[in-house]
Amino acid sequence: MPATGAKPLGAEDEASAAQAVRQMFDSIAPRYDLLNHVLSANVDRLWWRRTARRFRAILARPDAAVLDICCGTGDMTLALLKHRPPGARPVLAADFAREMLSRGARKFGARGAVALEADALHLPLRDGSLDLIVTAFGFRNLANYEAGLREFHRVLKPGGQLGILEFSEPGGWLGKGYAVYFRRVLPAIGRMICGRDGPYNYLPASVGRFPQPPEMLDLMRTTGYAACGWQPYTFGIAGLYTGTRPTIV
Ligand SMILES: C[S@@+](CC[C@H](N)C(=O)[O-])C[C@H]1O[C@@H](n2cnc3c(N)ncnc32)[C@H](O)[C@@H]1O
Repeated sequence: MPATGAKPLGAEDEASAAQAVRQMFDSIAPRYDLLNHVLSANVDRLWWRRTARRFRAILARPDAAVLDICCGTGDMTLALLKHRPPGARPVLAADFAREMLSRGARKFGARGAVALEADALHLPLRDGSLDLIVTAFGFRNLANYEAGLREFHRVLKPGGQLGILEFSEPGGWLGKGYAVYFRRVLPAIGRMICGRDGPYNYLPASVGRFPQPPEMLDLMRTTGYAACGWQPYTFGIAGLYTGTRPTIV
């Protein structure tokens, strides 16, 4: 059966899954940036930059309403801000884990973004109010993927765009080698730096549960997005899903 959403160990329903995810990110927040850069050998910076570049036309419009949802400690937000012109409307950067968000706010607060503590499945935003929603490595953690896509669709303007940067599992010989790193080496390094087992076992497990690109693209289409696509990054270790809320329904 296809995955409906994240299911951390011990979670029994969507509410307990969301709570476990929030607590996990709050607990690793002090070490999150360090772990991220060590575990990805800084390739994550390229992925954030590349994602922001993909939306540079929207970001260049001073009045564009932009949301970085699941912003965490704010590196995707910073990449988006590089494309904003002087005097542009602030980027909204939202997350439900306060410890992650407060670290992000320290980085992007003075650079033209506003922090918002909010749940991606219940955004405190008006229908049809955003030109662009971007999320980096957050979508996979939602307790219900379909509900997430529907909520993003609700708050996007007709013609508004969505970008979801997520890990993927590459195929072929590279995939086999990478699987050893991702499923064995990465949790061991994570455990060493963060002093606990859970979070870095959860990462490969959650990527394994996440829909493959064809399935994810189907879900995007059935939830109302048009022009859906997936661009692999770094041999498909990660990739960017894109879609548009159609202007004519
Ligand atoms: C792996 S981190 C990614 C952070 C950042 N975007 C980055 O690229 O480094 C995932 C983030 O998603 C947030 N998150 C997960 N589920 C969420 C939800 N339902 N609503 C808001 N934030 C959520 C977590 O709190 C965490 O900060």
